[in-house]
Amino acid sequence: MEMLSKEMLKNAIGYWDNRAQSIIKFKGGEFYTERKASIPYYIYRRNKTLYLMDKLDVKGKNILEIGCGTGYYCRYLKKRGGEVIGVDLSNNMLKLAKKYAKNSSLGILFLKNTAEDMGFKNESFDMILSVTVLQHNENSRLKMIVREMSRILKRGGKAIIFEDIAPKKIEVRMDKKGMIQLFRPVGEYVSIFKRYDMKLTSHVTLSSPFYASAMHPYNYIHNRVHIPPCMELIYPKICVEITKLLDKIWQTEGAGMGYFVFTKGCDEDD
Ligand SMILES: C[S@@+](CC[C@H](N)C(=O)[O-])C[C@H]1O[C@@H](n2cnc3c(N)ncnc32)[C@H](O)[C@@H]1O
Repeated sequence: MEMLSKEMLKNAIGYWDNRAQSIIKFKGGEFYTERKASIPYYIYRRNKTLYLMDKLDVKGKNILEIGCGTGYYCRYLKKRGGEVIGVDLSNNMLKLAKKYAKNSSLGILFLKNTAEDMGFKNESFDMILSVTVLQHNENSRLKMIVREMSRILKRGGKAIIFEDIAPKKIEVRMDKKGMIQLFRPVGEYVSIFKRYDMKLTSHVTLSSPFYASAMHPYNYIHNRVHIPPCMELIYPKICVEITKLLDKIWQTEGAGMGYFVFTKGCDEDD
């Protein structure tokens, strides 16, 4: 069996522990209340994610969130009646997750582990969620994670995946601290999940081609362009309105946020 290199794991833990430290400094302490909180697109995107999650039947289901970070979605799913476990490789993220869940008196189990090998019994979960986690794992790790998901997911169970995607081929970005972000085309996820007996049964792309090209230089802190302060106020709002419109009228496989449901051991479409 392939092993995750110690060096790789150490780097990932160090990176996400530091990210958690910087989250604490921001009001609210949620992942998206970092710099992104004030950016209308990210607010819109998170609301869209919740809108899609609202459609899932979670009551009484055993749900696992891999890469749960500060536990935002764990709390959300627990409040909707799910039995929820959150797993993350970062202690600092988990400290925050536990703190917030305790504050809202929720009985969520948070465990430190890598998604590649979580040690749960075979077929333990009805649903496994991943929100912007797989995109931070290169292909060898992705395959290990998907294999593990398939092992612990019940037959007919669902893997719910939200990841940034690219239109045709993998786009690799790296931030200043060296964390990679892999924008994979939908087909790449489909073929890897298929290998482990999970079939794509539902797919929506929050289509942000306009946003991605128009706003990316503004948003992306490393190559951020400076625009006049008055434009800083209106430009993101205009862009998000156009993006909302595009999402209504244009289903695309292109750049944006991919929402996938993979069902284990299923031949029929949902
Ligand atoms: C971008 S954050 C997303 C957090 C959360 N899903 C959310 O949307 O608020 C990615 C999280 O995944 C965790 N992570 C990344 N790769 C992981 C892996 N292989 N195993 C477990 N956790 C991982 C990181 O520690 C981090 O907390």
